[in-house]
Amino acid sequence: MNLAVVGTGYVGLVAGTCFAESGNDVICVDIDAQKIALLNSGQVPIYEPGLEEMVRRNTAEQRLSFSTDLDTAVRKSTVIFIAVGTPQGPNGDANLAHVRATAKGIGRAMDGFRVIVTKSTVPVGTADQIKQWVAEETTYPFAVVSNPEFLKEGAAVEDFMKPDRVVLGGDNAEALEAVKELYEPFVRTGNPILVMDSRSAEMSKYAANAMLATKISFINEISRLCETRGADVGEVRRAIALDRRIGPHFIFPGVGYGGSCFPKDIRAMISMGCDEPEMVLLKAVEQVNERQKRILVEKVHRHFGGNLAGLTFAIWGLAFKPRTDDMRDAPSITVIESLLSAGAEVQAFDPEAMGEAKKIFGERIHYADRNYEALTDAVALLVLTEWNEFRRPDFSRIKQLLKKPVIFDGRNLYDPVDLRKLGFQYYSIGRNDG
Ligand SMILES: NC(=O)c1ccc[n+]([C@@H]2O[C@H](COP(=O)([O-])OP(=O)(O)OC[C@H]3O[C@@H](n4cnc5c(N)ncnc54)[C@H](O)[C@@H]3O)[C@@H](O)[C@H]2O)c1
Repeated sequence: MNLAVVGTGYVGLVAGTCFAESGNDVICVDIDAQKIALLNSGQVPIYEPGLEEMVRRNTAEQRLSFSTDLDTAVRKSTVIFIAVGTPQGPNGDANLAHVRATAKGIGRAMDGFRVIVTKSTVPVGTADQIKQWVAEETTYPFAVVSNPEFLKEGAAVEDFMKPDRVVLGGDNAEALEAVKELYEPFVRTGNPILVMDSRSAEMSKYAANAMLATKISFINEISRLCETRGADVGEVRRAIALDRRIGPHFIFPGVGYGGSCFPKDIRAMISMGCDEPEMVLLKAVEQVNERQKRILVEKVHRHFGGNLAGLTFAIWGLAFKPRTDDMRDAPSITVIESLLSAGAEVQAFDPEAMGEAKKIFGERIHYADRNYEALTDAVALLVLTEWNEFRRPDFSRIKQLLKKPVIFDGRNLYDPVDLRKLGFQYYSIGRNDG
């Protein structure tokens, strides 16, 4: 099938590439000419495991191409995916300006029936709005299918190729069938393609993210209580995870959730329910998360007696989670900004997010080429992202390089007993080690 994917970011590039991998001819479109030029020169602008190789292979086999020309892409395609950003608007609501521009652009370029698929995360009712925007620009028939994306950054290709489920919403049987066919190669092990009305499909995406964010804030709140009551959240986690009604996933305490989705999607839900019903639980989820992003710096302040001026801190991990370079709404930003505003200096290292960090902090922090290099002359190490390479470091080397053997572990990667035996002052989350 001939497909166009509009928006070549984490979702669009992965979706387009995976659809090409299963034999479709795909044109990925973006308004960012620099991004398209980079992709046309064989480079992939984001870090996502397995993606680069797949992009190269499908480009070489001429199933995948990149363009800024929406009109041609629409004319050549029967199905067009909208995968543009839906960032947070001024009131916390989702900003649909890019979706609107894309829908109208598709409408203007159409020269016959088209299936328009919404992959961007959009508020409930957006499918109807898209229909209106397209209809304002064309008299040709079209159908809109809502197809929220559930992939996780860091495992996006794997998730897209083997989704737990695919959700399709809409009321046009022919269009739903066409999109279903596109997904069939990815659900051969029997995972379901669920077909429903578009509003339920749109809501499913927000509900999934809200549940996941709630689990994180839940365990973070429990971790706070553990600290004040002398319990160990690691033990508590193990105990509750064995209850099959609860399960082990997504209940790891840390420095809060971040990334391009949870924060903005939770705020969009709060905004969707601004009048009725008030999103009482989600407001609390967000409040817990904002508090959690500050917990490590509070521990730093307590340890150093409140005065951080002139002290240098080493940071390991800037991306909001491992295996991505994405720093959107990352807790590391809150942590680093607090340290800087207290007069401290920061030396940071991340395996993939250094480029993104430079866009955010510029010259305000120092960037280390390797993890150990960040430690030189620092009074403490703060671990903010659970990259695998930080899990088993050479502690004697850390001790040698730091001015003082102090570690603030925002991801509970290390064993408090071992670290104390090695002579470190060690602080983590919810383990009463402060
Ligand atoms: N990143 C994730 O993990 C993830 C997961 C599921 C769903 N989503 C949702 O998918 C959508 C896209 O997210 P993302 O992370 O890929 O965003 P992104 O910011 O990485 O990419 C969006 C792309 O759209 C392009 N764009 C904007 N307006 C355009 C236009 N008018 N025409 C063509 N291109 C345009 C931008 O230049 C950018 O390259 C969002 O709604 C997001 O909430 C994201």
